[in-house]
Amino acid sequence: MAKDFSALEDSNHSSNPSIHEVSRLSRRTLLGGAAAGLMWLPLAGVATLSGCATAGGGDAHSGPLLGFKGVPSAGDDTVRVPEGYVTQVIAPWGDPVGLSGFNPAFKPDASNTADEQEAQLGMHHDGIHYFAQNGSQSGLLVMNHEYTDDGLLHPGGMQPWTAAKVRKAQAAHGVSVIEVAQKAGRWEVVRPSPWARRITARTPMALGGPAAGHALMKTAADSTGRRVLGTLNNCASGITPWGTYLTCEENFINYFKGPDVPDAHQARWGLKKGDPSGYRWHEHDERFDATRHPNEPHRFGWVVEIDPHNPSHTPVKRTALGRAAHEGATLAKTRAGHAVVYMGEDARFEYIYKFVSRDTIQPGGFAANASLLDHGTLYVARFGNDGLGSWLALTHGQGPLTVANGFADQGEVLIKSRQASDLLGATKMDRPEWISIDLQGWVYCTLTNNSRRGAEGQPGVDAANPRANNTMGHIIRWKEDGDHDATTFQWNHFVLAGDSFNERAEAKGRVKGDAFGCPDGLWTDARGVLWIQTDMSTSAMYKGDLAGLGNNAMLAADPATGEVRRFLVGPIGCEITGATSTPDGRTMFLNIQHPGESPNGRSDPAAPQRISNWPDKQLAGRPRSATVVVRRKDGGLVGT
Ligand code: FEO
Ligand code: CA
Ligand code: CA
Repeated sequence: MAKDFSALEDSNHSSNPSIHEVSRLSRRTLLGGAAAGLMWLPLAGVATLSGCATAGGGDAHSGPLLGFKGVPSAGDDTVRVPEGYVTQVIAPWGDPVGLSGFNPAFKPDASNTADEQEAQLGMHHDGIHYFAQNGSQSGLLVMNHEYTDDGLLHPGGMQPWTAAKVRKAQAAHGVSVIEVAQKAGRWEVVRPSPWARRITARTPMALGGPAAGHALMKTAADSTGRRVLGTLNNCASGITPWGTYLTCEENFINYFKGPDVPDAHQARWGLKKGDPSGYRWHEHDERFDATRHPNEPHRFGWVVEIDPHNPSHTPVKRTALGRAAHEGATLAKTRAGHAVVYMGEDARFEYIYKFVSRDTIQPGGFAANASLLDHGTLYVARFGNDGLGSWLALTHGQGPLTVANGFADQGEVLIKSRQASDLLGATKMDRPEWISIDLQGWVYCTLTNNSRRGAEGQPGVDAANPRANNTMGHIIRWKEDGDHDATTFQWNHFVLAGDSFNERAEAKGRVKGDAFGCPDGLWTDARGVLWIQTDMSTSAMYKGDLAGLGNNAMLAADPATGEVRRFLVGPIGCEITGATSTPDGRTMFLNIQHPGESPNGRSDPAAPQRISNWPDKQLAGRPRSATVVVRRKDGGLVGT
């Protein structure tokens, strides 16, 4: 997650025994129960209820769904994978993306300029997708750079704080497009590449959908309300069947300086007095001062569509999908051909959304679907106590979403989607993060944690969010009644995360297999494995309920049996973010974000390697977010 100092966990329970024994015991009892016989299917890139996946097809495999030997938890500064697997690090922060004629090398003392950073991979890698060009041999990796740690990004950190450093921080945000190719099992970034591109917090973008041109979107710099500079805090991502990438703006509000007394709308969106998150951009770029430019925050918090196959494409912020602290955007296709986009809003007591397109997906790639995500209906989820749920439309003029209640039109409903969802009575969730759809059409959402659930003055437990002081998180899943555009569904909990050795009853969880906490990334591969990535906050991960879980990890789950098995453990202080695969299922790419993060989220500029110097392992080196390639040594299918 992005640095959100207001969300730091404060658990102080005594420490627990190591979970190593737990992992081995549970694995022994579960190994015989793994599902067998699942075959690879020729799958399209996006889920449908007749055959669903978020990856391409693959080769036939008749072994168990989870065929690897699990990895014990660990707390050291390396990436651990199962026996028989190898890893390779590519595309760390600061390496050149491969622009023609400008490939500045990374300087380990962080003295690269803003112009150089604009030609290099950004910081804090998150959502990622492999767009095949030559099948599984070469393609484009498109990835998000969620936020910056200014103690790492500049020599001397924020001392002094200059306009040049703000420009460099903005250049380290956004999205990278790189071309990658494999030679004899090793992957490399192709430089130069005609597709290489950096999209940053300053890249010109368009606004599409009902809020484009709205009075609340107009600023001193943009009287049309249709042109925005940049994208921010790009967390998870999604893909469309017409070949585009969706990047999602999460904790955008943290970049804005707020007024001494925020109004009710500003307060509902978390705009606070001053600059509580400490990015300090407003000091040298006044559009981030919301006291002077109150509409500028409205131009962030959107899902942004990018065509990675056209380096000159102007990204489009799709306002029809609603404004939120967007975690991700997961696309499904109905039998009739409509696009459905599932989205979680990662903030305490916020909501799960879905968008259903008005029109149907057309053959012909992006050109034929260039405005598909501009027209449709946005819904928010209500989870009933009876295992049934419903989708409530955020449609102006319906129910409470009226002029009398402060919504002038559909654009205002979308800009103020939180207030609209409040009025509709949607279910306040425990921080919805990634969403993924399995091969049987179940839709899964990680609810990473919510230590404020049940606290004084806060919402109490409900059927969907059943634990007070939910430090461990859970994964909820639902199946639509009919197709993905249905307005009712059935739901249950796939897993309550936890550790059976935990002293606190509510943190023991209900995990069939390896213990874990704080699920975040979620991805279904073409064989149907549900991959879970954890994000225990650095401030909480070695104490209280999370003590004994080690570093953040990636686990594989079998949707049929519920078994969860640890596949990868990351270096110290990191979170695991984003996963994707080549179409043949033999190479997995995943991201390691913020290795060596300090508990307060800011590296010490005098000793940035104090906690970690992964992946370079240079004595005085800075830790760098990077992409990890995972393969089987024998070239087999990952996960088998
Ligand atoms: Fe950026 Fe909610 O994780
Ligand atoms: Ca997170
Ligand atoms: Ca996340």
